[in-house]
Amino acid sequence: MKVAVVLGTRPEIIKMSPVVRELEARGIDHFVLHTGQHYSHNMDRVFFEVLRLRPPRHNLNVGSGTHGEETGRMLMGIERVLAEEKPDYVLVEGDTNTVLAGTLAASKMRIKVGHVEAGLRSGDMSMPEEINRIVADHVSDILFAPTEVSMQNLLREGLDQEKIRVTGNTIVDAVNQNLSLTEGRDIRSELCLDRYFLATVHRQENVDSPERLRRILGGLELVSKELGREVVYPVHPRARKRISAYGLHVGASVRMVDPVDYLTFLMLERGADLILTDSGGVQEEACILGVPCVTLRDNTERPETVEVGANVLSGTDPQRILDCAREMLRANVGWQNPFGDGNSAKRIVDSIER
Ligand code: UD1
Ligand code: UDP
Repeated sequence: MKVAVVLGTRPEIIKMSPVVRELEARGIDHFVLHTGQHYSHNMDRVFFEVLRLRPPRHNLNVGSGTHGEETGRMLMGIERVLAEEKPDYVLVEGDTNTVLAGTLAASKMRIKVGHVEAGLRSGDMSMPEEINRIVADHVSDILFAPTEVSMQNLLREGLDQEKIRVTGNTIVDAVNQNLSLTEGRDIRSELCLDRYFLATVHRQENVDSPERLRRILGGLELVSKELGREVVYPVHPRARKRISAYGLHVGASVRMVDPVDYLTFLMLERGADLILTDSGGVQEEACILGVPCVTLRDNTERPETVEVGANVLSGTDPQRILDCAREMLRANVGWQNPFGDGNSAKRIVDSIER
């Protein structure tokens, strides 16, 4: 059996790392095909370094562009590599343009596709990720749903139960495997931090709208001032570009830094009093690490985090962001992690071996 792991962005590298490690541990013939959707050192190579992953065998270097440009270049490149390598399985993870291109290319070549993190739905078709998820799920052969909620979403869309495996989310494996590598480090002294909140913002619907981005940044500043904590904000390159293009001002109590490597980010998450984010993976990690979260969006495809009391949706109104932050700081943090026991990668690899 030969397995191709197709990935292209920061969260895919992180969430596929346990799967790659598992394939390696079992001596299964596999290779990583990187589309190059993310390419800046701190969005890409740094993760291979700190997670101690071998560099990808293939990198298509597609870079950035419109959705059509990115996806089109990826489709051509993935098809070429799959024709040459002839894998039996292609594994993709999540909801990016890389996932869309990977599933389309492989399924049309009649190569079996496994979709890791299948069945997530925000119900919001204006998100490019929602379109990618739906297409990926409907053309994949095996659907690795992280939770019962995601399995139910797939069944509701008429997908065959036979194709679905509830595995947990590989983010739990990634957190467990990598947190141990941070032992002995103290992020507060490394970054000269007192108590702080952590923020990330990168979603297209938030940062490509000057009005929404201005309100979110205003909300971070308000939270910081009213609740007396510095906000540490590692800025995604997409947001950095937009903040500069829109000429937005961010107050000094919001410390804007470049994106950080995964181990540093895990430490920042664990040490934060509160996380404010529009990221999917960060909502999950906050919930797993027992840190309350405010999601700077109107919906989430991770409703499990809200149901267990780990997360609330604030939208982008500054006063509402502050109210949600106050509410979550009072939250009882003893919730159960709904994303599994950290053995998701084992279940995924078991399943394709069978
Ligand atoms: C993509 C995914 C999104 C995911 C996010 C993870 C899609 C449709 N979107 O969004 O679901 O949550 O990755 O971070 O696939 N840029 C750089 N360097 C990089 C990468 C991007 O400077 O290494 C800048 C470029 O200006 C680029 C912009 O960020 O135009 C957006 O990059 P792109 O990959 O298109 O989308 P993301 O916003 O990163
Ligand atoms: N992350 C990181 N460094 C940062 C910001 C985020 O390592 O500076 C990690 C974070 O721990 C999570 C993943 O990146 O695992 C989330 O990626 P992102 O928010 O870009 O995408 P999403 O999960 O929303 O698709």
